[in-house]
Amino acid sequence: MQIRQVTAEERTDTMFPLQAYAFSPSPWADADREDYARRMRFYRTAVSLVAEEDGQALACVGAFPMRQNVRGVLHEMAGVASVSTHPSARRRGFVRELLTRLLHQMRDQGCTVSALYPFRPSFYGRFGFVGLPRFRTATFAPQGLSHLLSADLPGVVERVPMQAGFDDYDALTLRLLGQRHGFSVYDEVRTAEFRELPRWVAIARVDGEVVGAVTYRIDRFGGDLVAGDLLTTGPLGRALLLQYFARHVDQVGRVIVTIGADEVPELWGTDFPVLTQGRVDHPSHAGPMARLLSMEALTGTVTTADESITIEVVDDDFIAGCYQLTGEGGRLSVEPSKNAPQATVTCGGISGLAYGVLDPVEVMTRGFGQVEASAVGPLTALFPKRMPYLFADF
Ligand SMILES: CC(C)(COP(=O)(O)OP(=O)(O)OC[C@H]1O[C@@H](n2cnc3c(N)ncnc32)[C@H](O)[C@@H]1OP(=O)(O)O)[C@@H](O)C(=O)NCCC(=O)NCCS
Repeated sequence: MQIRQVTAEERTDTMFPLQAYAFSPSPWADADREDYARRMRFYRTAVSLVAEEDGQALACVGAFPMRQNVRGVLHEMAGVASVSTHPSARRRGFVRELLTRLLHQMRDQGCTVSALYPFRPSFYGRFGFVGLPRFRTATFAPQGLSHLLSADLPGVVERVPMQAGFDDYDALTLRLLGQRHGFSVYDEVRTAEFRELPRWVAIARVDGEVVGAVTYRIDRFGGDLVAGDLLTTGPLGRALLLQYFARHVDQVGRVIVTIGADEVPELWGTDFPVLTQGRVDHPSHAGPMARLLSMEALTGTVTTADESITIEVVDDDFIAGCYQLTGEGGRLSVEPSKNAPQATVTCGGISGLAYGVLDPVEVMTRGFGQVEASAVGPLTALFPKRMPYLFADF
């Protein structure tokens, strides 16, 4: 077996049959292949690797260059996707080799974190990834928000097709990238595809400044208004967009909107009936996973604790070693250390702490390592639990 990096154009002949078989209804039509080929101009910056035998591609992986906010630090991120193996070549270690090589290549390219959506989290757990929360949806009838109809909010909402609203929408995502823990975005090449999405975008503005945006489509009169991520810079943006949804009373029966794990829709109104759901099952409805590819890159992470602790990371190609983690003046610094470690954790363990999804006790109960009793307090203070919201789906 040989591993080869292929260009975006080569993906149609090498990766498309593997991906289409793995992820789409099949047999596929010629039109599906042509559609894939057309989309490849948005994949020019993706790194695509195939495993070949006798000139035939039998397995593939890909990574998009992305950026992600982890507790206030902007990281270059490898967004792993397109992982698939021909059924006759499965369980021969092809993806293990491909993924290992891909992560090394992306780290060499400057990526300090990586994320993906797993078909089964335990598979990627062995590559150091740890689970993050899946997005939720809030489903409600617009009349539940009728109190907002008469609210005099100091802003306006404009509805435009995605093509017209794309630049404002994209600018808002870049602003949220700087502000929101976990938020991640593609590079310009990949993002350009979303300009063509057949969607409306509602843009909320206060004094001309964009404070919220949400993409949506309506399936039929009396049916569903299905919305994407409710993106806001704060409560006013949210109120303006919810007021806009409320104005669809008597036009749609339900609004279904995507939200982060930290949103609490039942507090959007009094007597407000709402169903908040976050269904997880495998292989098709998993939460995302993420891992660190560098410990040093955690330097600068926002933390309120003035604490110092020695931690050893074990069993990992990228970040194994002993480190001094010091919180001072609101920021974390990470340096190599020769002290005796007070905690010994896997990559999944330290990634879970850094991403805010595990506390030190859960690191132990979930089997990600050992933390001395004296270290539980300092580690909890350095990495308080805080749910990340990824936004980008890949
Ligand atoms: C999942 C898939 C990509 C695995 O590819 P593969 O080439 O068979 O994987 P490998 O042989 O490299 O397996 C790596 C390790 O995972 C294990 N493994 C493979 N498939 C597994 C599965 N379905 N469940 C649990 N473990 C699995 C292997 O035993 C191996 O373990 P080892 O390293 O301890 O020996 C392949 O089965 C596939 O294409 N499935 C359909 C599409 C899909 O789900 N893609 C993933 C999207 S996130």
